[in-house]
Amino acid sequence: MNIHANLNGKCALVTGGASGIGLATVEALAQCGATVAVNDLPGSAALAREEKRLQEAGFNVFAVGADMGNSDDIATMVDTVVARTGKLDYLINNAATPGTRTAIPASDLESQTDAFWYKLLSVNLLGPFNCIKSALPHLKASKGAVVNVASTAAFGGGGSSTAYAAGKSALVLMTRELAKGLGPDVRVNGVAPGWVGQSGWDCAWEAEEANAAAIALPLQRIGLPVDYAQVIFFLCAGADYMTGQTLVVDGGLLA
Ligand SMILES: NC(=O)c1ccc[n+]([C@@H]2O[C@H](COP(=O)([O-])OP(=O)(O)OC[C@H]3O[C@@H](n4cnc5c(N)ncnc54)[C@H](O)[C@@H]3O)[C@@H](O)[C@H]2O)c1
Repeated sequence: MNIHANLNGKCALVTGGASGIGLATVEALAQCGATVAVNDLPGSAALAREEKRLQEAGFNVFAVGADMGNSDDIATMVDTVVARTGKLDYLINNAATPGTRTAIPASDLESQTDAFWYKLLSVNLLGPFNCIKSALPHLKASKGAVVNVASTAAFGGGGSSTAYAAGKSALVLMTRELAKGLGPDVRVNGVAPGWVGQSGWDCAWEAEEANAAAIALPLQRIGLPVDYAQVIFFLCAGADYMTGQTLVVDGGLLA
């Protein structure tokens, strides 16, 4: 990514950072000199692989496995990161799960069990809340910033299930609420991606279906992780007078 900024001395934590949008964000921040803690699921092979690759490329990154659906894991993760870096400037709540490999139509209520709802809400909504809660003293101390990764599904733009869309919609509202609660010390913003190509998302579109949909977009292509990482980067390292906003980044899907 062609971004020039000096983030020497800044520290970031990116959840779900071993793949897709999270990984592109890790790379963008690290390329500009930030120290980046990269979270993904404990035991993730991708996490170990990307940590090694990025360290060998000379970036100041380190892996911290933790399940974003587990509040104890989250508290331990934040402690581990700050014990190592001494501070935290940017928290990027990117980890999420669709909980299904094929999209569940809104008409299909039977497939969306209590367990399915709990899983999605605990990872996709409570996870970001608990990350912010655990990181808050450190973010306040550094006058830092949070970026929550939502989805166009939050605005009625489809998505893999009602539970997923509802969780992302709540994340957008939480972004507004916490912006009010945590200012003036901490800014809280979000990004709402449309279709994402070249990510590891479990509920991806078939290539043919995605290509057909992409051609109908004003920008006539599927977004790549780097397209979203650019905006996350801006909301962290720039955008000093923005808080409470979720920027839709979708190639014009909702336009
Ligand atoms: N892919 C899409 O079509 C799409 C569209 C809109 C929004 N989004 C959002 O973008 C974000 C990133 O998705 P992506 O497309 O880069 O997908 P991805 O699958 O490449 O990345 C998500 C990462 O999160 C990790 N993760 C999942 N559950 C976790 C947990 N409980 N704890 C820690 N890590 C966990 C995964 O292992 C994976 O590495 C998500 O918040 C997703 O909801 C994706």
